[in-house]
Amino acid sequence: MDQLIIQGQHSLSGSVKISGAKNAVLPIMTAALMAEGESIITRVPDLRDTRTMIKLMEIVGARCSFKDNHLKIDASTVNNPEAPYDLVKTMRASFYVLGPLLARFGTVKVSLPGGCAWGPRPVDFHLKGLEKLGAKITLNSGYILAEAKRLKGAKINFEFPSVGATGNIAMAAVTAEGTTVIENAAREPEIVQLCKYLNQMGALISGIGTSRIIIDGVESLHSANIDVIPDRIEAGTFLMAGALLGKITLTDVNPDHLDSVLLKLKEAGSSIETTSNSITIEPGHLKAVDMSTAVYPGFATDLQAQWIALMSLAKGSSMATDTVYHDRFSHTPELNRLGANIKVENNTAFIRGVKELVGAPVMSTDIRASASLIIAGLVARGTTIVSRIYHIDRGYERIEEKFEALGAKIFRDKTSG
Ligand code: EPU
Repeated sequence: MDQLIIQGQHSLSGSVKISGAKNAVLPIMTAALMAEGESIITRVPDLRDTRTMIKLMEIVGARCSFKDNHLKIDASTVNNPEAPYDLVKTMRASFYVLGPLLARFGTVKVSLPGGCAWGPRPVDFHLKGLEKLGAKITLNSGYILAEAKRLKGAKINFEFPSVGATGNIAMAAVTAEGTTVIENAAREPEIVQLCKYLNQMGALISGIGTSRIIIDGVESLHSANIDVIPDRIEAGTFLMAGALLGKITLTDVNPDHLDSVLLKLKEAGSSIETTSNSITIEPGHLKAVDMSTAVYPGFATDLQAQWIALMSLAKGSSMATDTVYHDRFSHTPELNRLGANIKVENNTAFIRGVKELVGAPVMSTDIRASASLIIAGLVARGTTIVSRIYHIDRGYERIEEKFEALGAKIFRDKTSG
C-alpha cells in the first residue's frame, strides 16, 4: 500500500491542468453500453475508478481500449448483464449499469451496494424509479435482479434530487415506451453532460439542467463520441490549496461550474480572476466563513472536507454543515491529529481556526477526506504521512505530480503504508 510523504509549508505557484471529471465519465461509460458500435470518450481521467469501470465494461462483454486519456468502448459484444459484488463493493458507481443494461437486455443483475465509509448510502430511489417504469425488482443473495420486457414511461418524483438515481432512471427511460417525466431531478453538470450524451446517441431528453427532465422514449440508440467536462471537484481541491499556499492558475476548467465555491473563497479573503476556461487564485487574509453544502448549484459536498481543511487555518470560528451526507466527517479526527480544532455535532462541524498545523501520520478514509489531508499536510509544519492513499487514487489523477509541479514537496512511497 502506497503512502504520501509531504514536507509542508512550501509555497505553490504556477499552473495546473484540470483533468476530466470522474463523476461525469463513469455514467457516460455505462451509457455507451446501450448502443451497438464503438464510442470514443476523450479527456478520460486515468483513475482507479475509471479502471474499475473498464473492468466492469469488460465483464459485461464490451471491448475497451484506454490510452492517453482516450477510451474506446465497443458495446456490440455486450452479452452478460451482471455487475458482481467484488466490483460494486470497491466502487458504488458500478450501480450505474443497472438502468442501461435493463433497458438494453430486459434483465440485469447488480450487487446491492453496502454502506460506505461515512455511513449508509441507500439506492431506494433508483429501485423505486425503475419499478415506476414497470421493472420487476427482486433481491436475492445480495443481488438486485431487475426485469422488464420493455420499460414504460412514467412520472417519477424524487424525494431528493439524487445524482445517481437521476442518471440511472434517465438511462433506463430513454428507450422506454412513451414519455417519462423526472421531477426534482439532479442538476449537477455531470448529469447535464450525461443527458446531452444520451441525446447525441439518439435519445430525446428535454429540460436538461432543470429539475424537471422530460424523456420521450425512442426505439434504440446509436454509439456516439464525447469529450468529458473538467472535474470541478479536482479544481475546487486545488483552489483550496491555492487559498492557503500561493498564487496558482487552474487551466482547462469551467469556472461556471464552481460559482458557489468561488464566492465562498472570495468571502474568505482570496482574490480570484477567471477567464472562460481558467481560474487564478491568490491568497489573502484568510477569515472564517460559514458554509453549508447543497445540491448543485450549491457548494458541493465533495468539497466539504477540503473546505474544512482551509477553515482550520482561518482567523476566527466557522461552521460547515453537510446537508447532502449528514455523516461525512471522517476527515475531522485526522485533521485534529494535525492540530486543527474541529468538533462535529450532528451534520455540522464547528471549526476554530488555529495558527498552524503540525505534520503527523494520518489515514485516508475516502476520496475527498484524503484530499483534505493532503491540503492540510501541504500547509503543516514538518512532515505529514498520509496512508491508505488508494482512496485518493480512485478520484485524483496523479495528484502528487500536479502538486509537485506547483512547488510542493510531496512524494509517493511505494514501499510501505
Ligand atoms: N439517497 C437516498 N436514496 C437513493 C439515492 C440517494 O436516500 O436511492 C440520498 C443519499 O443518501 C444522499 C443524497 O440522497 O443523502 C444524495 O445522494 P446522491 O444519490 O446524489 O449521490 P450519489 O449519486 O450516490 C454522487 C457522487 C458522489 C457525490 C454525490 C452528491 C458519483 C459517482 N458520485 O453520488 O461523489 O458525493 O453524488 O453530490 O457521481 C465522490 O466523488 O467522492 C463522491 C462520493
